[in-house]
Amino acid sequence: MSAPWNRRHILSLDDFTPPEYDIVLQTANSFREVLTRRTKRVPTLQGQVVTNLFFEPSTRTRSSFELAAKRLSADILNFSPGQSSLSKGETILDTAKTYLAMGTDMMVIRHREAGVPHAIAHEMDRLNVKVGILNAGDGQHEHPSQALLDLFTIGTLLDDQNPRISLLKGKKIVIVGDILHSRVARSNIWSLTAGGADLHLAGPPTLLPKWFGEWFKDCPSLPSNTPSVPPPPQLHWSIESALAGADFVMTLRLQKERMTDHLLPSLREYHQQFGLTRRRIQLCKPAVKVLHPGPVNRGVEISSDLMDDPNFSLVSQQVTSGVAVRMALLYLMGSHLMNC
Ligand code: NCD
Repeated sequence: MSAPWNRRHILSLDDFTPPEYDIVLQTANSFREVLTRRTKRVPTLQGQVVTNLFFEPSTRTRSSFELAAKRLSADILNFSPGQSSLSKGETILDTAKTYLAMGTDMMVIRHREAGVPHAIAHEMDRLNVKVGILNAGDGQHEHPSQALLDLFTIGTLLDDQNPRISLLKGKKIVIVGDILHSRVARSNIWSLTAGGADLHLAGPPTLLPKWFGEWFKDCPSLPSNTPSVPPPPQLHWSIESALAGADFVMTLRLQKERMTDHLLPSLREYHQQFGLTRRRIQLCKPAVKVLHPGPVNRGVEISSDLMDDPNFSLVSQQVTSGVAVRMALLYLMGSHLMNC
């Protein structure tokens, strides 16, 4: 392995370095091999406790972390807010401390408010306890494990034996849709630009405001952590100009639950203007592949037939990759905790 892993928590990708991406990709690739064996389980995290603290609904991320922890032989606790003491007035920090007292080693946290995993990590560090916090999606902020599994899906497609971040260099990658409300887009912007991808963002101005490009340029952590500052993503307010010659297209779900203002005339109109369809996909390279983090609003951000077409769609590979990538993250954090 090229460099040591030095992170107790994985909260954001904004300061991830290329060697760190490569460690995740290489580790995930070795776990991918484990997942093809007859006995798909290794004893790596035996005796460690992983707690899934999902304060927001989730199908794939939560199940994926649960399966990843089980494949590593960890004990897993699943917290559901509906049946918890939160309804009796307990605070989130007290809930986390309860799981700490039960011997939790790693907490996987999802919350509708940005910053909750950071606050819990801060509290664990203040208490000086050896617990790793993994952000599984915080509000509109970040979703690191999703971007890492997207990176792994693309990386293994480009080089099945040796996925690495440098394979992205010069690849045209387009993220289409509700960029403003998407934590998946934010995390992907960090990883894809760190790899030198030619990154394009497309959406209606209400979901891709002009200032979004400035946010990226102004981020203080970027210059110190990337050897040469990558060019910022290009913004498009029409899908056609963005798709021309694309190698990969990531479509995002319209986050209806986060749209408190009336940002769109109608879902039908959105599909007409920004939906990924068979006609539009022809603007891309012939070998183009489509990703979607799920859940999908079929017929809104992507036409149903395109989503199901294995010649284009990587959606099920993303879900499969997710288990190997999350095994890698839990393994790297767990090993770091055991050694520090
Ligand atoms: C995403 C999420 O929850 O942020 N889904 C996921 O984790 N697979 C994207 C979304 O909800 O649209």
